[in-house]
Amino acid sequence: MNKIIVSIVFAIVLVIGINVITDTIYYVEKPKKSAYQIDSVTAVANTTAETSSVDVNTGNIMALFASTNAVEGAKVFKKCAACHSISQGGGNKIGPALWGVLGRKAGSISDYKYSKAMVAYAKPWSFEEMDGFLIKPKDWIKGTKMSYAGIKNAKDRAAVILYMNENTDNPLPLQ
Ligand code: HEC
Repeated sequence: MNKIIVSIVFAIVLVIGINVITDTIYYVEKPKKSAYQIDSVTAVANTTAETSSVDVNTGNIMALFASTNAVEGAKVFKKCAACHSISQGGGNKIGPALWGVLGRKAGSISDYKYSKAMVAYAKPWSFEEMDGFLIKPKDWIKGTKMSYAGIKNAKDRAAVILYMNENTDNPLPLQ
């Protein structure tokens, strides 16, 4: 009789023991946990985006476009004209010709000698890229040889971007 009880208890202990061991070996992280992790990453990204937009006094570039126009931009462009031509067929000056610059790849005019940094950058000039660059060119593209402090005023930047987007064969959609 005792032997039977002992072997039953032994069997139970054995089953529980195997369960514990397999749980440890095949422990799978619950999906709930990774969902939380993604959440926190997004939250961090949002915070950075918000902070930087506060820092540089820029908002949604599209909203800023609505507050200004290309005529204002032509006035702002006077600051650039010492180094850049903007008209169709205009040549390179100290800086590369800017006709059609929006949508063009950074550092891609073949007969202009860019800095290595600008050639390596190679991203297309979107509205956002241009806005970021014009705030403070040397911060946006480390090593650029464009010696220009930048345009602090977000509305002025939006205006000059609108102006550049009119001096092109292929304006980027204002949407
Ligand atoms: C003191 C001269 C100077 C002034 C002023 C200047 N730039 Fe530049 N810009 C340059 C130089 C030089 C480069 C080439 C940079 C490089 O290769 O790193 C350049 C490059 C650029 C590029 C990249 C073009 C390409 O082909 O990828 C853009 C866009 C640009 N400038 C816009 C402007 C705008 C807009 C203004 C006025 C708000 C301005 N720049 C004022 C000298 C200037």
